[in-house]
Amino acid sequence: MQALAEKSGCFSCHSMQTKVVGPAFADVAAKYKGDADAPARLAQKVREGGKGTWGRIPMPPHPNLKEDEALALVNWVLGAGS
Ligand code: HEC
Repeated sequence: MQALAEKSGCFSCHSMQTKVVGPAFADVAAKYKGDADAPARLAQKVREGGKGTWGRIPMPPHPNLKEDEALALVNWVLGAGS
């Protein structure tokens, strides 16, 4: 999963523990802990892009990711804090 995240460019804006352009994946994991709807919602946001949850900087869309790839990445991110 780390390799897919690297290939997809996620780490140009995210790192596991510290905020870069986007929030640290550990912070994302902590925020959505116990939220059963989060994986599907966040996978859609990764594919379509979005803003306003962590600040004013938007995340660009990643339309090349397949739905199952986006979901797998998000599930991996959500496991980052545990
Ligand atoms: C160009 C910079 C950039 C890239 C590349 C990027 N992100 Fe983001 N990401 C952001 C920003 C900025 C936010 C905060 C958006 C907000 O405030 O709603 C964010 C937010 C997120 C969130 C939390 C969304 C929420 O609503 O809480 C997840 C999960 C995420 N990114 C995953 C990824 C994954 C997986 C990739 C690689 C496919 C990726 N990001 C690539 C900038 C980026």
